[in-house]
Amino acid sequence: MFAKLLKFIALLLGAAVVLVAALLCYLKFALPKVTAAPTLTIDSSPARIARGRYLAEHVAVCIDCHSTRDWSRFSGPPVPGTTGRGGEIFDQRLGFPPPSPPKTSRPPAWARGPTANSTAPSPPA
Ligand code: HEC
Repeated sequence: MFAKLLKFIALLLGAAVVLVAALLCYLKFALPKVTAAPTLTIDSSPARIARGRYLAEHVAVCIDCHSTRDWSRFSGPPVPGTTGRGGEIFDQRLGFPPPSPPKTSRPPAWARGPTANSTAPSPPA
């Protein structure tokens, strides 16, 4: 009776080990299931650039945060020539959590997924 129970437990453990090994193999070799990154062609015509500028400056107001603001003037307008840069600092002084970890601690390539291949020109430095 005891020997039978031991045999049953051994079988159960063996099955668990095989199951875990199969799962690890699946994770290692079958994932991530992603297709190749598409090659994107970005239309960089003056009209599209103007549309993007309008969106960034007036609709999504990206530039309000991503520029240096002149707070000596009414409503703190962005200082010309600083638009699209870093800008406002949202840190612990405003009650926010500490800043994001530095770029060196990025997740590994497999965790970031495919990166789109873009034929768009690089943004100005
Ligand atoms: C409310 C202020 C605010 C607005 C509005 C805003 N951003 Fe940001 N953005 C930030 C802050 C703060 C960070 C830095 C976040 C961090 O490091 O944790 C950031 C980070 C970024 C980054 C990442 C930069 C990097 O080096 O990784 C990009 C790209 C970006 N913003 C683009 C945009 C775009 C595009 C828009 C408009 C659609 C926009 N932001 C609007 C505050 C803002």
